[in-house]
Amino acid sequence: MTHPIPIRKMAFEVPVAEDFNPLYIAGNATLSYMHTALGLYVVRLEPFIVKSLRKVLPQIRDEALREEVDRFCRQESQHHQKHADFNELFLARKYPGLEARIKRLRDDFDGYLRHRSDRFRVGFVEGFESYTSQSALTLLASGLYEHKRSEPRFAGLFKWHLLEEIEHRNVAYDIYQHLYGSYLVRAGMCWMAQQHMFRFFADCLRIMSAAEGERGGARYRTTFKHRLLFTRVDPFVKRLRTMLPGYTPRHLRIAADFAELSDQLSAQAVSVQ
Ligand SMILES: [Fe+2]
Ligand SMILES: [Fe+2]
Repeated sequence: MTHPIPIRKMAFEVPVAEDFNPLYIAGNATLSYMHTALGLYVVRLEPFIVKSLRKVLPQIRDEALREEVDRFCRQESQHHQKHADFNELFLARKYPGLEARIKRLRDDFDGYLRHRSDRFRVGFVEGFESYTSQSALTLLASGLYEHKRSEPRFAGLFKWHLLEEIEHRNVAYDIYQHLYGSYLVRAGMCWMAQQHMFRFFADCLRIMSAAEGERGGARYRTTFKHRLLFTRVDPFVKRLRTMLPGYTPRHLRIAADFAELSDQLSAQAVSVQ
């Protein structure tokens, strides 16, 4: 029987640059740029996750948790590799200001690795994971990836990534609890990590909307109202939930067809460990 956190090696076909439509999610500018921003964010975050957790691995006294952390890191490494391939398409669009913003993001993570404590880093990882496991459930249930104006290759990439975020939803929480357990620090790190991500998303939306709007017209622009809705208003309840004292990823309601989707993706994989 495979472990509940399987390591799938996927072989996705990446669209060629000439074919790339920047409105690849439901033909919608805000939704598409949010996904683009997520792809750009995770290729910086995921190596940080792996380095941060590998550093504390020797401190984990529970054998089963150690294996879960190892599998969690290996899933994240796969995500990083696949997103890096798709990100080439976004980077080729030459968005003015994006390179400098990505450099700032890279500097942030380098600084966290160099100057912050293990507790800060594990808390940061948990702050991110506790938000994304919830939004992964919402996004997979939304039908967005089956939408007729969603590009199937991008839809496949995000479906796989989000499903695995749900598979490893307990791991960051468990390692944080195992090593530290302080509620207040955890809540503070949720706030900080999620702010960090949404600030990057808001900047990406602005940068992409300006450049694509200039090239393609009104359909390619996001409005201030939409940016506010997607990066502030809509995430509010999910963010708050991660910071409440009784929060645990074990309370998340997992959809009935989750196991089926998980099997489907394993069947598509080149290999599963
Ligand atoms: Fe990931
Ligand atoms: Fe994750």
